[in-house]
Amino acid sequence: MNFSHGTPNFDRLAKLYRWMEWTSFGPWLGWCRCAYLDDLLACRRVLVLGDGDGRFTSRLLAANPIVRIDAVDASAAMLRALVRQAGPHADRVRTHRADARCWQPAPGSPYDAICTHFFLDCLTTREIQSLAATLRQVVSPATVWIVSEFSIPDGRFGSLVARPLVSALYRAFGGLTGLAVRRLPDHRAALREAGFLLQKRRTGLAGLLTSELWSTGPEAPFPSSKTSAIAPANYVTNMLKSFLKELVDSSPNPASLSEDESLSHAPCKRRTAPRQPGPRLQTGAD
Ligand SMILES: C[S@@+](CC[C@H](N)C(=O)[O-])C[C@H]1O[C@@H](n2cnc3c(N)ncnc32)[C@H](O)[C@@H]1O
Repeated sequence: MNFSHGTPNFDRLAKLYRWMEWTSFGPWLGWCRCAYLDDLLACRRVLVLGDGDGRFTSRLLAANPIVRIDAVDASAAMLRALVRQAGPHADRVRTHRADARCWQPAPGSPYDAICTHFFLDCLTTREIQSLAATLRQVVSPATVWIVSEFSIPDGRFGSLVARPLVSALYRAFGGLTGLAVRRLPDHRAALREAGFLLQKRRTGLAGLLTSELWSTGPEAPFPSSKTSAIAPANYVTNMLKSFLKELVDSSPNPASLSEDESLSHAPCKRRTAPRQPGPRLQTGAD
């Protein structure tokens, strides 16, 4: 598959990213990333795509002492921040600097979980379809795929608030990183097309945020649950802790980045575009 646009470059946002997020969305994106953390406590192998500065990765490493994580990101600065953020657990992280659209997972035992938080919105629907088809090679029926994303709910809030807000975010990130995508992809259609089934979903901020758990296993009854169960106090404590840690710990972590390929910010070509026979195109779960 040829990609019409190059890889965005998030390097210069690596240091600012968390503060930009905190001043715009407060604790909500953090809540979204961790909405299904409890479902990952027994995982041994997890693939995290586009985790940026690694706040989710570090939470998972701290919560699950046996997990080993493959972290894929196009930005070297983000991966350095991720390794730093992992602190004493960094030896359980293997980084891959690569455009996820071209990255090929090493064949072997399947991942127990795949996590993409506010990453699929950097891709088009077709690119997500292709990525999901590739990842079918490294999942088992027990693998879960956790997705956090922005979403535009139906109704006045969607058209008057969510849509203009998401457009403004795309314009800002487009200017800062060269991201060419300008509208939210239909990640649900793409994942279904590749044979994944939506199992659980939570929403926040009146539907602007969604956190979802997918798998290729049999579909569970869909418990669509609106939730406001966020713990701002914990989140603020974690933010303060990591701020202090960053002040104290300015030297890079000894764990090194393994680079899969030298990454230019030119459009990339996927080496293979496998297409697994997805069980069916699902429309029912949401
Ligand atoms: C919007 S940030 C999201 C960061 C983090 N996951 C979060 O929850 O805030 C997107 C991240 O994905 C990475 N990224 C964007 N497009 C990519 C691509 N095609 N391949 C690999 N990484 C990419 C960026 O470098 C950045 O770290």
